[in-house]
Amino acid sequence: MAKVMDHAGVAGAYDRWAPVYDLVFGPVFRRGRAAAVTEAEAVGGRILEVGVGTGISLPLYSKESRVVGVDIANGMLDKARERVARQRLSQVERIAIGDAEALDFPDCSFDAVVAQYVVSAVPNPARALDEFLRVTRPGGLVVITTRMGAEKGVRKAIEHALMPVTSRLGFRTEFPWSIYADWAADRPDAELVTRRPLPPFGHFSLVCFRRAEIDNAARAAA
Ligand SMILES: C[S@@+](CC[C@H](N)C(=O)[O-])C[C@H]1O[C@@H](n2cnc3c(N)ncnc32)[C@H](O)[C@@H]1O
Repeated sequence: MAKVMDHAGVAGAYDRWAPVYDLVFGPVFRRGRAAAVTEAEAVGGRILEVGVGTGISLPLYSKESRVVGVDIANGMLDKARERVARQRLSQVERIAIGDAEALDFPDCSFDAVVAQYVVSAVPNPARALDEFLRVTRPGGLVVITTRMGAEKGVRKAIEHALMPVTSRLGFRTEFPWSIYADWAADRPDAELVTRRPLPPFGHFSLVCFRRAEIDNAARAAA
């Protein structure tokens, strides 16, 4: 996929979205966020939410979880910090600036990594997916809610035509499943365990990869 986004452009776009983000994107993604949190909490423990944005999903986590949120846009993070303080979200361990493609955490730091409506916004999706898997412990889960672009037909043509506009707004409309499939084909330590459509209109999906307990090379050698 051609590189159509860059970090500074995306951060700037979401700094501009920050004041109205919850109003525009709150209700439309509500059910997807709830589904993602349920998946992550089934694994439980320490959870990293990448692209936490205004922290709109943080109140959904139970008080038993320990959640770290990172995002590339300071304007969004300011909103997240206000929310944590206002709602006394004691399950939130830390909110910090951070890049999905270069996470500032050691390997295997989290039981689950959650990325909601983020992978289609990052410049290099495969690099971000590598990072999610790296910081997830073996047996842990990467939970993604994602744009699912059409594979063919009129919708695919429209999504392609909209790309110059939407990429300036901070997201891609053209985002086929093959981005995940190609990445997973190179990662035998990532097992696809969930792929199901989410509202609205099935243009989004919940996708979960479990990090293998031992990698395939080790398994073959055993
Ligand atoms: C569509 S918003 C989703 C926000 C939130 N997760 C939600 O459910 O509404 C995408 C978020 O990803 C963040 N983002 C984009 N690229 C990023 C990157 N490379 N690293 C971290 N966050 C990034 C944006 O700043 C923005 O807050």
